[in-house]
Amino acid sequence: MVTELKKDVYWVGVVDWALRQFHGHELSTHRGSTYNSYLIMDEKVVLVDTVWAPFQNQLIDNIRGIVDPGKIDIIVANHAETDHSGSLPLIMKHAPNATVIVSQKGLESIEGHYHEPWNFKAVKTGDSVNIGKNNLVFVEAPMLHWPDSMFTYLTGKDILMPNDAFGQHYATAFRFNDQVNQEELYEEAIKYYANILNPFNLLVSRKIKEVLSLNLAVDMIAPSHGVIWHNDPLQIVTKYQEWAEQKPDQSAVIIYDTMWEGTRKMAEAVGQGLASENIDYKVFHVGISDRNDIVTEIFKTKAIIAGSPTFNQGLLPTMMPIMEDLRGLKFTNKIGAAFGTYGWSGEGVGIIEDHLTKCKIPVVAEGVKAKWQPRADDLDKCRELGKTVAGAIKSA
Ligand code: FEO
Repeated sequence: MVTELKKDVYWVGVVDWALRQFHGHELSTHRGSTYNSYLIMDEKVVLVDTVWAPFQNQLIDNIRGIVDPGKIDIIVANHAETDHSGSLPLIMKHAPNATVIVSQKGLESIEGHYHEPWNFKAVKTGDSVNIGKNNLVFVEAPMLHWPDSMFTYLTGKDILMPNDAFGQHYATAFRFNDQVNQEELYEEAIKYYANILNPFNLLVSRKIKEVLSLNLAVDMIAPSHGVIWHNDPLQIVTKYQEWAEQKPDQSAVIIYDTMWEGTRKMAEAVGQGLASENIDYKVFHVGISDRNDIVTEIFKTKAIIAGSPTFNQGLLPTMMPIMEDLRGLKFTNKIGAAFGTYGWSGEGVGIIEDHLTKCKIPVVAEGVKAKWQPRADDLDKCRELGKTVAGAIKSA
């Protein structure tokens, strides 16, 4: 299926309804995804981004619905990650003389992936290429989300193609933002931001300001995943500005794992303390919860309260992936606290507190340790911990 975005501009991408894990098995994609590729029929035939290699024949068929793939003059590879560049080798077999436009860093990353001496043209911010009636204008967008990432703007049609930025892993029947369920759309957009773009908040703010200062008319934002923003397209830019500011809700997320339910009881008592102060919270057993969904909730919330029994003088190993996310995703404006049971040595709570501190998440309440199964007074201390964190949330 091909969708005409505007006269002579087509979506020729693929909807992957079955995708449930992305980046290998790093990111959950409960609603599938799309790999968006755009075909521009001007005096030159231009393809902006391709699709993941398992779908390359579908891309070729889609292009064939409009034009012979051998007629492609220019391929813009905005980013080398293989969900977008994966069909380049096949496209280049069809159109071996096509020019491959990349960012300066893309020169390195695309060659590094495919080891092919294609006819590359590296561009930088402000460069433009005439394709007939219209021009392609390029804006480098390093770390949104790779050093090679680039936005492409099509004059005359006022379409911004920002690759991963403003995308969502969201397979849908329709291509445009106002044709889909808005709640689902924003659930996927915020999950995408929290799990992929959060470390680059400052760069997101700066890049948005830079693009807006170019005074380009933007009538459509066509990212490389999910729906195309054509109805009020700047709504997602406004959302990104808001998300980049990291102004969390006055709420908490409690994450824990447990061996014999003692740390679970502590987690629930912490929650009771929060609720007694009218602070909303969510509790996740990390051993059986989706890591990326937890990250999304952490993104929205002010306080992260983590609990683990001491295990082999450390934490339960199931805690480690989310602890690594707290480090790598570089959340700001958060506060934290720790709790957990122990039997013998009891290092767990201190390890969590040290980790939160290293992640620049200040610990705002004394950690609670309960030996063996928590007693009534241990659970009271957990409730007090919840109340202390609630107070810190309100006064932040
Ligand atoms: Fe960074 Fe959609 O790949």
